[in-house]
Amino acid sequence: MVIAIDGPAASGKSTTAHMVSQTLGMVYMDSGLMYRGVAYALLKHQIECVDHRVEAFLPQMQLEVLSVDSIMNVYVDSSDVTSQLHTAQVTEVSSDVAKIPNVRQWLFKIQRTFSKQYGDDPGIVTVGRDMGTVVFPDATLKFFLTASIDVRAQRRVQEFRQKGININYQEVHEAIVHRDHQDIHRTIAPLKQAPDAILINTDDLTPEGQANIILSKVREQSQS
Ligand code: DC
Repeated sequence: MVIAIDGPAASGKSTTAHMVSQTLGMVYMDSGLMYRGVAYALLKHQIECVDHRVEAFLPQMQLEVLSVDSIMNVYVDSSDVTSQLHTAQVTEVSSDVAKIPNVRQWLFKIQRTFSKQYGDDPGIVTVGRDMGTVVFPDATLKFFLTASIDVRAQRRVQEFRQKGININYQEVHEAIVHRDHQDIHRTIAPLKQAPDAILINTDDLTPEGQANIILSKVREQSQS
């Protein structure tokens, strides 16, 4: 079973998908972390993020994704870099990386391989922008999470505060507007709801509430 959850930045996808995968005993696959992994590798090797330079580097890029305790971890040059993929610099470069068609194609293969490994048994819960539209058009269930920009910016500020980082609300708000624009307007695999995806507005929902909606749909599906 593949459960695909797409939506814009900070819409609550990752936390929700994580809870759903744990409850169902499935593997969590975060495609955003793969784009972040590519960005990390480019920064590490000082490769400028322009199409031809990135494309020339792809054959040498050592990026692996593995399931560790049912959570996808990212390895660059054989080191686990998963915890280093949410810096402001990696976030910014990952958004540019995601516009390069050959990178999307390259990661598509990795995403499909990961799903071949775990999709049937125990199943995967995957998050991103194009999981339901491009990568897994035949996913068992598809969800599209949205929330207002204000709510998403508040959540991000909260997340940073919990990590002891004080960040300016306005800056976070602007960064989200910018990333939305990049995600929605890129020519290849733009962020959009798949026609058969269930829309969930998470403005007034807790992560548990979001996970419960998804879990109840999964139960309905398995009873039908
Ligand atoms: O979800 P995230 O913030 O970790 O994603 C990082 C970047 O990768 C973001 O700019 C959007 C992009 N992305 C994408 O284009 N397609 C995906 N399936 C997942 C992420």
